[in-house]
Amino acid sequence: MALLKSNRLISCLGSISPTLGSLSSRNSSWWGGVQMGPPDPILGVTEAFRRDTNPKKMNLGVGAYRDDQGKPFVLSSVRKAEAIIAAKQLDKEYLPIGGLGEFTKACAQLALGPENDILKSGRSITVQTISGTGSLSVGANFLSRFHGGSRDVYLPKPSWGNHTPIFRDAGMKLNAYRYYDQATCGFDFKGALEDIANIPEQSVILLHACAHNPTGVDPRPEQWKEMCEAVKKRNLLVFFDMAYQGFASGDIDRDAWAVRYFLEQGHNILLSQSFAKNMGLYGERAGGFTVVCNDADEAKRVESQLKILIRPIYSNPPMNGARIAATILNNADLRTLWLEEVHGMANRIIRMRERLAAGLKKEGSAHNWQHVTDQIGMFCFTGLKPEQVERVTKEFSVYLTKDGRISMAGVSSGNVDYLAHAIHTVTK
Ligand code: LMR
Repeated sequence: MALLKSNRLISCLGSISPTLGSLSSRNSSWWGGVQMGPPDPILGVTEAFRRDTNPKKMNLGVGAYRDDQGKPFVLSSVRKAEAIIAAKQLDKEYLPIGGLGEFTKACAQLALGPENDILKSGRSITVQTISGTGSLSVGANFLSRFHGGSRDVYLPKPSWGNHTPIFRDAGMKLNAYRYYDQATCGFDFKGALEDIANIPEQSVILLHACAHNPTGVDPRPEQWKEMCEAVKKRNLLVFFDMAYQGFASGDIDRDAWAVRYFLEQGHNILLSQSFAKNMGLYGERAGGFTVVCNDADEAKRVESQLKILIRPIYSNPPMNGARIAATILNNADLRTLWLEEVHGMANRIIRMRERLAAGLKKEGSAHNWQHVTDQIGMFCFTGLKPEQVERVTKEFSVYLTKDGRISMAGVSSGNVDYLAHAIHTVTK
């Protein structure tokens, strides 16, 4: 019966789809025509790393924090929150479509600041999402469905590898503005301003709130101010991606400065947040998506549509990570502990940057590695060329993304000298 149904379906689709038609005549498999896809540019690096048997191998591909022994790190504040949650013996009922209320409230307060008038007035809506990627995806689909202005979204060049498929798959049209200056390994401020000045009005511009991924290059506050003005002149809709709040400077308020400044200047932004990095909740998939609206009524209408959008995709979000994050954010002692731990993680990364730059100098490298310490956050955009990346992986089992990005969070006291030696060898 099932076969009969399938054959009927194929013959029916075959009449409208030549690809499926030829598949059915092959008659061996439904999926015979599926092409092999390439590995993911970031997560694929981990797969290759796992296959390597070299005991000195280093995984600097994915941005995931490690302690100084190179081990995955679970924050004490997270362990304590888990104990509190376990003791409560909570039920496992579905969360609402928009997620756990105590989480979404704390999530928005963390980004906008607890005393923010926007939150008090109710003219924003925050829904819980499946971490940062899920948040961006909900955002991109919301834009695709409701942004009357334009389908065009402008990403910094370069941007996080997943931004492109997220917006493309949602039906948005991808464009870029200059961001990274290869000559200085720093911010191309002039290029960014020039490009922003030419973006068609009402387009969407994506900004990394802090700890730009992959370059580790952030605008300075005075540069943010000029960008804010330029964006306003073009009447652009701002979408902030804030996946690293706390990771850039170790200070959650300082890292949210750009977001709060744009809001003060009257931009009704979209905002994606993730607790993967700053709480180490990678696999828990806890994040938030916020839309700032004109008034509370508009926010209610937007909320209703976000729920309609989310419901057929994953129905409602997972509860465990949101419970952990909410427990930490809403408990004064745990919050203090967490802030210390964020600071500790950011500082360890800064120390590793210094050790790497010193190690390269000690190796006798003639290159200027100033950018290793100038850049900020989890990643260092080394400037390694694709053939050097290939060599450092092949000869030293140092795994990184093809664009030369290394996750500084994977560097430790035990392997930083090895890394300096490896990089020096392939760049001398
Ligand atoms: C990264 O850029 O390595 C992280 O954001 C992890 C990911 O999902 O790509």
